[in-house]
Amino acid sequence: MAKTVLITGASQGSGKATALLFARNGYDVVLAARQPDRLETVAQEIQSLGRSALAISTDMGDFQQVQTLVNKALQTFGNIDILINNAGICLTAPMEKTSLSDWQKIMDTNFWGYVYAIQAILPHFLERNTGTIINVGSIGGKMPLPQMTAYCASKYAITGLTESLRLELFPKGIQVCAVHPGVINSNFMERAMFRGGDESETEARRQQMSKLLESSWVSKPEDIANAIWDAVQNKRSEVVVGPTFLATEAYRLFPGLMQWVMSQNVK
Ligand SMILES: NC(=O)c1ccc[n+]([C@@H]2O[C@H](COP(=O)([O-])OP(=O)(O)OC[C@H]3O[C@@H](n4cnc5c(N)ncnc54)[C@H](OP(=O)(O)O)[C@@H]3O)[C@@H](O)[C@H]2O)c1
Repeated sequence: MAKTVLITGASQGSGKATALLFARNGYDVVLAARQPDRLETVAQEIQSLGRSALAISTDMGDFQQVQTLVNKALQTFGNIDILINNAGICLTAPMEKTSLSDWQKIMDTNFWGYVYAIQAILPHFLERNTGTIINVGSIGGKMPLPQMTAYCASKYAITGLTESLRLELFPKGIQVCAVHPGVINSNFMERAMFRGGDESETEARRQQMSKLLESSWVSKPEDIANAIWDAVQNKRSEVVVGPTFLATEAYRLFPGLMQWVMSQNVK
């Protein structure tokens, strides 16, 4: 029987690249995201590779929808071998411009969405004494980033979730791994939120991020897909993707110095 992977945020960016990579390697794929048309396009690409794909429009911030996603996946394929928690959104804003509703939105998708998926799938993994959970985190879950407090809080929460759960599930045959990208040249700018003091400051933040995406050291969605594939194949517990590793290592070794350097650029 073919193995099955469930990927959230699979309609584009690194989620889509990961779905295609797993399909090319013989997996059937369950795809989740909110916009059904984009999901269906990815499902058709997978089917043209000769694999089965099930596209289920899901808001990961709603537990009932996530439970339905997992139930439908199990009804269709009988089993799920791998969960890839990847659906996420980005917010760049100083704290005083981050509304409570911004916080809610970020945490609903980036944190609760991951918890909901794990909660819904874990009984199945425990019953079979096997399974893999990959949580896509961020450089912002390994080191602080100025004016990204809500985003970093959501991603640090994923680091804590992943590291604690790994200890608990390892003896039960379940692998739990975090894959931390740096900056990915995906379409995340489409749904990234920017806040500033006024229109021009907000626009400046947006431009700054767009410029960053043109840098040569920025990862491609396929780099994240390859890192996830490698993490599954080699049962890794954590992967920091690409040159980001240098920054997170520097922060781990010299946190005070790095905080000082970063604070020099905060206006
Ligand atoms: N891009 C970066 O520079 C970067 C850097 C570090 C970490 N990451 C992390 O990497 C992951 C993927 O990023 P990406 O750049 O590939 O993103 P992306 O291109 O913006 O794609 C995000 C995916 O998540 C889905 N999504 C967003 N909110 C959702 C929700 N509430 N429910 C279900 N699906 C939802 C989107 O589809 P719908 O809108 O249709 O729902 C889309 O499929 C995220 O966890 C992100 O935080 C990204």
